[in-house]
Amino acid sequence: MAKSFLMINSSMNNSSWLLLVLFFFIVASSLKGSEAAVYNVLSYGAKPDGRADSTLAFQRAWLSACGSAMPATVYVPRGNFMLRPVVFSGPCKARIVFQVAGTLIAPSNYWSLGNSGYWILFIKVTGVRVYGGTLNAQGSGYWACKSSGKSCPGGARSISFQWSSNVVISGITSVNSQMFHIVIDNCVNVLVRNVKIRAPAQSPNTDGIHIRSSTGVTIASSSIMTGDDCISIGPGSKNIWIQRIVCGPGHGISVGSLGEDANEDGVQNVTVTGAVFKGTQNGVRIKSWGRPSNGFARTISFRNILMKNVFNPIIIDQNYCPDNSNCPNQNSGVKISRVTYKNIRGTSATPVAMNFACSPTNPCWGIALQNIELTYLTTQATSYCKNAGGSSSGIVVPRSCF
Ligand SMILES: *[C@@H]1O[C@H](CO)[C@@H](O)[C@H](O)[C@H]1NC(C)=O
Repeated sequence: MAKSFLMINSSMNNSSWLLLVLFFFIVASSLKGSEAAVYNVLSYGAKPDGRADSTLAFQRAWLSACGSAMPATVYVPRGNFMLRPVVFSGPCKARIVFQVAGTLIAPSNYWSLGNSGYWILFIKVTGVRVYGGTLNAQGSGYWACKSSGKSCPGGARSISFQWSSNVVISGITSVNSQMFHIVIDNCVNVLVRNVKIRAPAQSPNTDGIHIRSSTGVTIASSSIMTGDDCISIGPGSKNIWIQRIVCGPGHGISVGSLGEDANEDGVQNVTVTGAVFKGTQNGVRIKSWGRPSNGFARTISFRNILMKNVFNPIIIDQNYCPDNSNCPNQNSGVKISRVTYKNIRGTSATPVAMNFACSPTNPCWGIALQNIELTYLTTQATSYCKNAGGSSSGIVVPRSCF
């Protein structure tokens, strides 16, 4: 190696030096060019006053970035930008960073989002990173509409990714979504990190992060206070990793609801490790509709979890039947197996800290309990089992009922 390098070196004449210098010049100028590919929404007419409609300006900035042959940045500076429902679609020519310093705010009239189902939607993108900023969907008017019994629109999810891959969502804050805050749907390889989600405990259907039909999703180091599930994992989710989550108020971390449809993809390989639940309705839950389905949930691991006054710290519920319509007196077809609960401690707000209510036609099997310590007030909590089987090891309090 050293010898041949010397030979090349000594055989270089003046013209090859010139070529070398030219080569470095080209590399250096292309690097400079990629730094310069920044598309500031202000240059496209966006107004940071929180009132003027900036939707078209954002869309134009996105189109420019998406058409750029080099990696590009869409930049949203400080200020409040009012956006109607907006779609950022791919495929794009190169990677894109969507960097937000300011706040994106929805129109105050909830009808302007409510019928589209989404507010900010990324679709068919690859290699997109969304960094920073605040999303404020101003959902309170919409929630009030729902609780008044008036006729209301279907509601919008604040930020969704569909049919996308290699996505990073980091450092964003989402407040007061109409429906779910963040949705990962039909995606591959997604990282959600350092996000902050805020909505009141009583806000309906404001799930923090919802995953469905996606493979390889990591959610890490995030704080979620909302009115429904902090994280919900729907049908077709595979290889999901959830780490360092603080949840509450909210309904906990839930696999489900599964089995709403007769024909449905299952959920497999989900890990939740490192989570604190504060006063939530549930801690870790698996939930299925009580009706026929070919769905399943298998190889699920919940570990290193602290419960603080949680109403159902550990729960499997296969009898979900909202409004008692289309399911009473039926059994869930969803097959639940190989669920591990390890190093889970803290306090339950109800006497039953572990509740396994499985399907009579599809009993749960392979539930493993290891090092569980859950108390209720100053006494021991209890456990409840129906159609559930498994094993326990180490200290398990309350004792298992398999
Ligand atoms: C399970 O998912 C994790 C990512 O969460 C992945 O690293 C691992 O390879 C998966 N295991 C299997 C057997 O697919």
